[in-house]
Amino acid sequence: MANKMVLITGVTRGLGRAMVDEFVRHRHTVLGCGRSQEGVERLRRRFGPPHDFAVVNVAADGEVRAWADRLLGSHGPPDLVLNNAGVINQNARLWEIPEPEFSDVLDVNVKGVANIIRHFVPAMIQRKCGVIVNFSSGWGRSTDAEVAPYCASKWAVEGLTQAFAQELPSGLAAVSLNPGIINTDMLQSCFGGSASSYPSPAEWARSAVPFLLKLGPGDNGQQLTAPGGSSG
Ligand SMILES: NC(=O)c1ccc[n+]([C@@H]2O[C@H](COP(=O)([O-])OP(=O)(O)OC[C@H]3O[C@@H](n4cnc5c(N)ncnc54)[C@H](OP(=O)(O)O)[C@@H]3O)[C@@H](O)[C@H]2O)c1
Repeated sequence: MANKMVLITGVTRGLGRAMVDEFVRHRHTVLGCGRSQEGVERLRRRFGPPHDFAVVNVAADGEVRAWADRLLGSHGPPDLVLNNAGVINQNARLWEIPEPEFSDVLDVNVKGVANIIRHFVPAMIQRKCGVIVNFSSGWGRSTDAEVAPYCASKWAVEGLTQAFAQELPSGLAAVSLNPGIINTDMLQSCFGGSASSYPSPAEWARSAVPFLLKLGPGDNGQQLTAPGGSSG
């Protein structure tokens, strides 16, 4: 398979970090971001150019714009965009969740996705190809108590992706992806000790990355579930 340029948000931990290893192992170029300076520096030390890692908060439109300007200049448009960065609220009933925490979940999980699309997709449209994968969740298609802000954000990701797919010209595709259930920091936050009985991010990435690499224009608008994660 030809070398692809893969843009991944949220690469410092969890699924994003595991996908970096796997895409690099398959000889693709990874452009990644996260908020943790230490996490980004660790990635830079491990994977030099043409890979590129930067401290970017996807919820900050100006930071995403500057990141896109730089990367589109140095690397050109990505072939695959993985809107993976996400946060979850601390388990609590909706009326107990402080406004800043509610806003943060929506700002990262929904507005972060839109910010990436705003600044990277015009160049992909100009080149007439590319796939955008917006990370959803089982909780983007079902609900549970104590994760209402997270459910609201992931149901929004599903709706945003469907509408966005209807706007794209032929040659491009946008899909939502439920990764399944994987043992990451996020899962430990909502599942506690039982998170350890789920697959590791590295195990998940071994089947999820080949699945992601096969996506193409024919998949536009699909609501997908990745292989490799537990279904619950
Ligand atoms: N794990 C699961 O079972 C599961 C299930 C369903 C859906 N998902 C979805 O899969 C995706 C990855 O989840 P995960 O389990 O890997 O979560 P995680 O372990 O908590 O990792 C989240 C990643 O996103 C980054 N991030 C968070 N906010 C960011 C921001 N504002 N800007 C840039 N990067 C940011 C974090 O790095 P920094 O802290 O350095 O920013 C980290 O690298 C999320 O969209 C999540 O909702 C996961």
